[in-house]
Amino acid sequence: MNLYKYVSDAINEKLGFTANLEIPRNREFGDFSTNAAMVGAKAANKNPRELAGEILPKLQELDFVESATIAGPGFINIKIKDEFILKNASAPKPMKKQKQLVLDMDYGAYNVAKSLHIGHLRTSIVGDTFNRISKFLGHKTFSWNHIGDWGKPMALVIAWIEKMHPELPYFRDDFVAGTDVDFDIDPMELNTYYPSASQFAKENPDFQTHAQMIKARFQDGHPGYFALYEKFLKISLETMNKTVKRLNILPFDYDLGERNAAKYLPDVEKILRAKNLIQESDGAEIIVVKRDSDTAPMPPYMWTDSRGADTYDSTDLAAVYCRKITDNPDKLIYFTDLRQGLHFEQLFRVSELAGICDYDRFEHIGYGTINGADGKPFKTRDGNAAGLDDILDIANDAVRVRVIESGKNLDDETVSIIALAAVKFNDLLHDVKSDYIFDPKQITNFEGRTGPYVLYTAVRLNSVLKRANSVNELSQYQMGHDERDLLIQVLDFERTIETAFENRATDMIANYAYDLCQLINTFYHNCPILRDDVDESIRAGRLYIARIARDTLATAIDLMGLKIPSEM
Ligand code: ARG
Repeated sequence: MNLYKYVSDAINEKLGFTANLEIPRNREFGDFSTNAAMVGAKAANKNPRELAGEILPKLQELDFVESATIAGPGFINIKIKDEFILKNASAPKPMKKQKQLVLDMDYGAYNVAKSLHIGHLRTSIVGDTFNRISKFLGHKTFSWNHIGDWGKPMALVIAWIEKMHPELPYFRDDFVAGTDVDFDIDPMELNTYYPSASQFAKENPDFQTHAQMIKARFQDGHPGYFALYEKFLKISLETMNKTVKRLNILPFDYDLGERNAAKYLPDVEKILRAKNLIQESDGAEIIVVKRDSDTAPMPPYMWTDSRGADTYDSTDLAAVYCRKITDNPDKLIYFTDLRQGLHFEQLFRVSELAGICDYDRFEHIGYGTINGADGKPFKTRDGNAAGLDDILDIANDAVRVRVIESGKNLDDETVSIIALAAVKFNDLLHDVKSDYIFDPKQITNFEGRTGPYVLYTAVRLNSVLKRANSVNELSQYQMGHDERDLLIQVLDFERTIETAFENRATDMIANYAYDLCQLINTFYHNCPILRDDVDESIRAGRLYIARIARDTLATAIDLMGLKIPSEM
């Protein structure tokens, strides 16, 4: 149940107009507070306190109202009946939507032949959680891993291999597909090819030109380049899959990126030409997206570069076309670094100009950077920009240190579950758009607003419930305020998820989970459950509440893509 919505709707219906319902910071005087008397005062030609006095008896008729009292200039505080709370609090269940949205989500978007960087961490975590929330709310989602598998990096890697092994047959124009030779690429080494090649290209214009030539011919289907590409594509895809597993994110519905989109380029080009949108500019083909009302610079969209090759821009537009005919989504949502904002603004405009997809179906969720203590992008100890795996390894080490310090004995699997929770929870906790400082020590603390604290709370409840063996259905139970506060938070779960979805604010769910844990731990301390001196019927009631709390927390944990270890 969404308690807030239930109470708000019931009050509005009772009074016949729409008032605002607030959740007071301090629940001492009421669980909710309504401004109904202030809203209705004008129409009723009364002062708010006077009207509040008339409204009170009406509110008291509502089945869930324990008491309604006037506060200040005419606010009304409402306290909910204990029985109502106890009866309606339950474990959250996935919802069914009458108006189900079809959502295409573009996140992950890893690149072939380039190792995954920190930026890929945020797109994966936030995208995956948003996907899980959407599914939970009953929407239909399709996740697209828009792999970077068609551009300059491919050409640079091919050029680099050619430089090292010119004798290989792949570079010959008469190479026939299928006449492959024994040539293995070392997966560890593959990661070094792109950075080396790209550095070398900066210093050697000839090599740069050669790579550009390779790019154009590769995209035209050069059989030798393709055969080589297939080899490192396979290695890259394996690495990506390992990452998806390690991050515990849902498998992508489509691992289809630029290369797949390129198949649709001819169709898209036809549309663009028919609308006369493509213009020639210094050998390149561009689409003007600037509007008269623009105050910020709005460069044209690159349809082809000056060598006639496909671009990040063109394949992204083709990808929109592909998704439109594949899923026909209500919304296309992209999760990338904030710095790609301009690119997406251009893409959305071109899509609309071309009549491929309306501008208002698009959304770009841009995230900030993960920084070190110096406020600059996080670096590993050797001074290099940290990769995605580095971050997870560093968190793993930090958890292990804590475990040793505390004298606990936890296996590797558990340590890595905790480390992943530390990283993901901390990421979700921050407003997507903001940068944050990655502090391995702080995020792995077992206390405070951290992933380990959340997991620890769940493990603790699991252990109580396991030791209790069975939990009976609702019995007569006199709640104290610890149980009451806890169940009210449970009854706020649905509203939180709905609001997190509507506002695209995944941080709401992390903060909700933390608040829930605080209430669970207070309950745990103040309301002994299995202790010998606890009366049987009290124990039954507390176990019942503990189970609802655990199920709610477990659902939140799952929506964040974390796992609960069996011990901690
Ligand atoms: N592969 C790109 C990167 O690593 C992100 C792609 C995002 N998605 C898109 N449709 N452009 O930065």
